[in-house]
Amino acid sequence: MPHKPFKAVIPAAGLGTRFLPATKAMPKEMLPVVDKPAIQYVVEEATQAGIGDILIIIGRNKNALSNHFDSVPELETNLERKGDHAKLAKVQQSSDLADIHFVRQGEPKGLGHAVLRARSHVGDHPFAVLLGDDLIDERDPLLTTMLAEHDRTGAAIIALMEVDPDHIHLYGAAAVEATESVDVVKVTGLVEKPSAEDAPSNYAVIGRYVLSPAVFDVLERTEPGKGGEIQLTDALQELAADPEGPGVYGVVFRGRRYDTGDRVDYIKAIVQLAADRDDLGPELRPWLKDFAATL
Ligand code: UTP
Repeated sequence: MPHKPFKAVIPAAGLGTRFLPATKAMPKEMLPVVDKPAIQYVVEEATQAGIGDILIIIGRNKNALSNHFDSVPELETNLERKGDHAKLAKVQQSSDLADIHFVRQGEPKGLGHAVLRARSHVGDHPFAVLLGDDLIDERDPLLTTMLAEHDRTGAAIIALMEVDPDHIHLYGAAAVEATESVDVVKVTGLVEKPSAEDAPSNYAVIGRYVLSPAVFDVLERTEPGKGGEIQLTDALQELAADPEGPGVYGVVFRGRRYDTGDRVDYIKAIVQLAADRDDLGPELRPWLKDFAATL
């Protein structure tokens, strides 16, 4: 029997302390990446993978997020009066994208806790979790591959990327076994932010997950872990270790990913994306070359 349609959950209730003071009154998911807030790229990625029902987990400073996905009648009327249809389309794009819902996390007790807040909205649908500080290039359809893998196996699917072993302490790390596909591995264990010596591999967990609602029961009993937070990684470790269940598989991503959760990577992401664009690249690229020559 075909399963129920996928929903998407976007946790955006973290404190964003690495970007203070920019995130004092605004969630980091609203920081602009060229000319769109980071979260809009993520919502567009979900809709491009065919998901029309999106739940955003919000914390303090929720207004900026919900306003962004609402219509703004006075701005729209103003642009209409001026006949500026190009800008009007940009304003309307974010309010026409999908069926977007919001739920509050209350206290930022960790990613696992944020995902658990989605339980009643998700119900018995399979769902994708997308983190707003990991942007995946729209030319690399990672989420579509992950949804197909979930359909095939019924397992929890995570996205993995090989990183420099010196950087693995910034991520969740996976112990893996090969499968018959070079792009898919079986995940036999997961550790949140291990030291380089303790890491089971240099396969880092990046911010895309496809899960079935069974994960909620596990999250309910997951105790605070690394950093005193309820970690999604710990719940997935339990699923990976369960010999009765469908297990956890990793889709190995080798495409273009822009990490916007860290300040230097955020700046790199903006430069890369802008240099690639037809409207900005022709002016930016020669300037970048001249600028680089002065360094
Ligand atoms: P991060 O650890 O990257 O976000 O969480 P943070 O805590 O806001 O970042 P810093 O370190 O203080 O700068 C990964 C994702 O999980 C969400 C965040 O919004 C981010 O998208 N998150 C994290 C929640 O929604 N709730 C939480 O309690 C924690």
